[in-house]
Amino acid sequence: MRILAIETSCDETGIAIVEAKLTRTLPKQINVLSNALVSQAALHAQFGGVFPSVARREHGKNIIPLLVHALKEAKMLKKLKTPRKLDKKEERQLAKIFNKEAELFTVLKESLLSSRIPKIDAIAVTSGPGLEPALWVGINTAEGLGALWGVPVIPVNHMEGHIVAALMALVPKKKSAYTLKPTQYPSLALLISGGHTELVLMPSAGKYKMLGQTRDDAVGEAFDKVARMLGLAYPGGPEVSRLAEKAPEGQKLSAPLPRPMLKSDDYDFSFSGLKTSVLYAIKKFESLDDRDRELIAKDFEDSVTEVLVAKTLRAAKQYKVKEIILGGGVTANKKIRKTFETTVARELSGTSLFIPDVHLSGDNGLMIGVAALLRRKTKKHIKAQGTLHLAKPVTKTLAELRKKK
Ligand code: KG4
Ligand code: ZN
Repeated sequence: MRILAIETSCDETGIAIVEAKLTRTLPKQINVLSNALVSQAALHAQFGGVFPSVARREHGKNIIPLLVHALKEAKMLKKLKTPRKLDKKEERQLAKIFNKEAELFTVLKESLLSSRIPKIDAIAVTSGPGLEPALWVGINTAEGLGALWGVPVIPVNHMEGHIVAALMALVPKKKSAYTLKPTQYPSLALLISGGHTELVLMPSAGKYKMLGQTRDDAVGEAFDKVARMLGLAYPGGPEVSRLAEKAPEGQKLSAPLPRPMLKSDDYDFSFSGLKTSVLYAIKKFESLDDRDRELIAKDFEDSVTEVLVAKTLRAAKQYKVKEIILGGGVTANKKIRKTFETTVARELSGTSLFIPDVHLSGDNGLMIGVAALLRRKTKKHIKAQGTLHLAKPVTKTLAELRKKK
């Protein structure tokens, strides 16, 4: 089966083409025919965060050229002697799909009608969670391609994509083939990204139970905001981490930052107060020198790491899980990776720990394609779902509680 996957949930446009022989269990090998990505991070850096309308505009600009690039890389763009013409029915159907994106439709026609229909069995697309205006660009393109090529569309949950990314292992000596690590259940996933902080129990393959989530800011969001306070660029995670690494061993902030909800008897998180504590710590200094900034960055990173590790391990022990999976952009963080590795080895020696390779930790089309290979559930008329959950949360977020009042 060959799948073309599209990811546009935030500020990366990702297109991947993957192929695998389907089996009843996991596919033995997944060949990556293309894995293309355009990041808008540099553009959003000037605003210090992602603006949904700007993200949508940029996805709209980038998606078809990226698609053409991916098809060329996979050697699947074969020129026709005479360009294909859409009949009236096809034209109407596609115009309806691209109702709000006439320009995207024009570029799609110009770019693809002069080529043969590629040998693709399905289109996969992220349907949520994410920024809805950004998600719609991917969904409309996916449905448009589905209609143009006569293939079904598979909606993919972005967070499931992040979980799958942790299970992917490069086949030795090959640059573009992966195997999937065999999974054992129950399994526990900690998902940490710019928009999410979730602890999810997986009793069996593809089944999820939300144990806890952030009540306010996501971890990645907290990294980004703290970066801004320290005068660092967006995305802030890698910047804060680089600064923290410069802090001298053994030296600590005179008044350490809090470890929010470390001891709470649930699996929820909260990072908004920690961010405010960073602000107070900054204000305490009359003039902040480089060393002070390094120590603040380090204590912030330590606090986040301590809370994430402690709660994940507590849940792992309570539910006697056989493996722990980390997913999402924040898993690129060296301190978090290392601390999980050493603590799991020390305290839960029989439990496997899966962390995505750093090149697969952020958003990408490949993880969406592989997640689609595993689920293969097609759908007509997909809707963007900004707050799509893997499972119904057991506890409400503060925002939800406030809304109810
Ligand atoms: O999963 P992702 O690429 O996009 C979302 O789905 O949100 O995650 C992006 C987040 C950003 O907040 C970014 O600052 C954070 O991941 N991030 C990091 C690191 N690299 C990226 N956070 C901490 N340390 C890093 N090295
Ligand atoms: Zn993500």
